[in-house]
Amino acid sequence: MSHIRGRFQKAADKKVAEYTSSLLFDWRLYKHDIAGSIAHARMLARQGIISKSDSVIIVQGLESIEQELAQGKFKFKAELEDIHMAIEARLIEKTGEAGGKIHTARSRNDQIALDLRLYIREAIAQTVDSVRELQRALVNLAEASMGVVMPGYTHLQPAQPVLLAHHLLAYFEMLQRDAGRFNDCRKRADVMPLGSGALAGVAYNVDREFLARELGFSQVSQNSLDAVSDRDFVLEYEAAASTCMMHLSRLAEEIILWSSAEFDFIELDEAYATSSSIMPQKKNPDVAELIRGKTGRVYGNLMAFLTTMKALPLAYNRDLQEDKEGLFNTVDTLMASLDICTGLIATLKVNAEGAARAVERGYILATDLADYLVGKGEAFRSAHEIVGRLISYAVKKGKSLPELSFAEYSSFSSLFGEDVYSITVDSSLAARDIIGGTAPKRVAQAVAAAKKTLGQGS
Ligand code: ARG
Repeated sequence: MSHIRGRFQKAADKKVAEYTSSLLFDWRLYKHDIAGSIAHARMLARQGIISKSDSVIIVQGLESIEQELAQGKFKFKAELEDIHMAIEARLIEKTGEAGGKIHTARSRNDQIALDLRLYIREAIAQTVDSVRELQRALVNLAEASMGVVMPGYTHLQPAQPVLLAHHLLAYFEMLQRDAGRFNDCRKRADVMPLGSGALAGVAYNVDREFLARELGFSQVSQNSLDAVSDRDFVLEYEAAASTCMMHLSRLAEEIILWSSAEFDFIELDEAYATSSSIMPQKKNPDVAELIRGKTGRVYGNLMAFLTTMKALPLAYNRDLQEDKEGLFNTVDTLMASLDICTGLIATLKVNAEGAARAVERGYILATDLADYLVGKGEAFRSAHEIVGRLISYAVKKGKSLPELSFAEYSSFSSLFGEDVYSITVDSSLAARDIIGGTAPKRVAQAVAAAKKTLGQGS
């Protein structure tokens, strides 16, 4: 743009122009850029910095440019290095001298800080909606599979029986914290930076509070140097997104395990699975694998931008332009992953028999047996030892716990009574009757509470 090369005699080298341009990716901010410019033009007129009539011309011009952009009619010129310049140049083309006044009392440095905050505010609202959808799918599946028992694991070894619903609600809790992190990030993004100018604040009588109200911000930034160079809100979104992707990746991993022949707890819907090009028997969990796999790039975007920010002197530096591609990629990846994960959960079929078979394998009631002895007066540590010996005996004999005779039990402790046979998977579940436990009654309450949180009533 000729007017901003005013001090220069030469045009930028073509390679340099390409290297420094952000237009290929920051065009995505056009709506926010125009919203900011409209508010700015109105404020300039209210404050008598430009005339009312110029402001009307500018606002109309910006509105028609927004339409051109929305309809794909806007001609992007490679020599305009970013979306701010592309829109300003078009405005001047359309409105002449009036358009030349839009950049009064403003810099691209406070302009991009504003655009990005507007963008992230919208992204957060959409992200939280998508998190809620996934939570809803998890709660629906939990409710529909209330009677299904599966082994709970530690170290991926069958440990104690749990309800599948209880397991699914663990992910509801993780996502609840994720939504909280995004909402926290929104608070810090909710600061209006215009008026900071290039770095020192502008030398005009601007009304920053008016701008904040017009653009729906609850505060204005308190330090111009900070406002043009702060990208904490980008990092916070990326950190929250990384944690959320980590949760999705854990869920994806369990879906992959559970759909294997070895576990056989669930069957994936054909619409959410792929076939093998050579092995006809296979139904592959590629969708879940990609959720797990894409977690890497979201972590990468966070690390990349943290590294970019490190040791930047105040105030604006062009390094900051590197904020956008990673952020957009993170938003796109997270939103798509949440959406796909919701579909995966909503369509999979639970195989209650497969899960029940896994509960039968292994000595999953061993803890309950130790608790039984504690109930009869044994100290937990020695109860643990007695049951350990008993299990090793049963393993040698190839017997399950119910297959052991009373005489066999009694040879390990005189405290065993006939009621030892009343220890079952059901009694084990029911015994965990505490807040946060897997007793069916408690899990039903947790489902109801989760639905209430999601605004579905109980
Ligand atoms: N494209 C720039 C960015 O994304 C906009 C701000 C440019 N400011 C400047 N002084 N060159 O950061």
